Amino acid sequence: MGLDLIVRRAVTPRQAEPHDIAVTGGRIVDVAPTIDAKAAQEIDAAGRLVTPPFVDAHFHMDATLSLGLPRFNQSGTLLEGIALWGELKPHLTQEAVAERALKYCDLAVAQGIGAIRTHVDVCDDRLLAVEALLHVRDQVKPYLDLQLVAFPQDGFFRSPNAGANLDRALAMGVDVVGGIPHFERTMADGAASVRALCEIAAERGLPVDMHCDETDDPMSRHIETLAAETIRLDLQGRVAGSHLTSMHSMDNYYVSKLIPLVAEAQVAAIANPLINITIQGRHDTYPKRRGMTRVPELTAAGVTVAFGQDCVMDPWYSLGTGDMLDVAHMAVHVAQMTGRNAMRTCFDAVTYNPAQILGLEGYGLEPGCRADFVLLQARDPIEAIRTRATRLAVIRRGRVIAETPARITNLALNGRPETFDPAG
Ligand code: FE2
Repeated sequence: MGLDLIVRRAVTPRQAEPHDIAVTGGRIVDVAPTIDAKAAQEIDAAGRLVTPPFVDAHFHMDATLSLGLPRFNQSGTLLEGIALWGELKPHLTQEAVAERALKYCDLAVAQGIGAIRTHVDVCDDRLLAVEALLHVRDQVKPYLDLQLVAFPQDGFFRSPNAGANLDRALAMGVDVVGGIPHFERTMADGAASVRALCEIAAERGLPVDMHCDETDDPMSRHIETLAAETIRLDLQGRVAGSHLTSMHSMDNYYVSKLIPLVAEAQVAAIANPLINITIQGRHDTYPKRRGMTRVPELTAAGVTVAFGQDCVMDPWYSLGTGDMLDVAHMAVHVAQMTGRNAMRTCFDAVTYNPAQILGLEGYGLEPGCRADFVLLQARDPIEAIRTRATRLAVIRRGRVIAETPARITNLALNGRPETFDPAG
């Protein structure tokens, strides 16, 4: 059998000993210490890390790269960001949203991202961002899996047409039901919105991913309702709570009951370390809360935890590079997850865990999986996070779709600057 591609001497996040990976027809067909065969293309990983693609579990592609439009966020707060987005919305065009999104997708692919779940605002009656991103989803499919969440950003009840618009967006082909309970007028409205949105998802057979409790208010407990509704409606394994920052500030006794409930409901947690550390704690003087949700504790309880980028160069966040290793690096610091296993957990939170949340078919590096992977200029996941390793080659369905030359480092283990040619 003629193989399309063999990657030689690759270590993987799950396999520290170098292995060969054989690919044909866009799938991995064999993984073994040595594969005695020829292929149309060979890449020598030379003991470096090959990982399944990075997956961004939480993003806002309708706003990305709009930095400075119509003005900059001077305070850097969530509320000024929301106000700014409101100012920009009337001036959005479908073409401009699509153009910025495509530009971001190029960046993401070059950084080894293979899938993104993006929330898209449905509170603009024109739904032009939905139209634009549905178009982008089709256009980037050969390179990137895009999943869209219908996001009633101004509140499902608070924004008059949000319910009708959300229905329209789902009918147009948006993949996931979103929500923002902490932004409704009252706690009671927030809980009611969680119930209503979970019912919509149950009726339509769709997953749920809500912005949930993105606040420092320890009494913001919509995650509790989200978990309970998940159980009531039999949605286990299909629901994610994004941000969950109030959990950082909650009473420990309450959390000792809450986390097992989240685990029982199989609700996944998506933290956004870059944004959480920037946006939360803004009303604090000192000590100043970090605001990120309780990642080690959720992980220990068996909850699937993923990290998202959330924002790149938009009304909420001026920075960002589309690099999930940046996100993992920040998480290591904010959550103080500096143990060896903890750092590997952070790597999983930008690869395997979000892939599971998005329900990506054939994700992984076993025979039968899709031949989607990234060759990094690093020897293991920890080094990859430390150096935000160069993505030497990005492979999709067995084809190299992006390459970046190796970075010269003066910390190579042999004491010599490292240069590495993925072509061998
Ligand atoms: Fe978000």
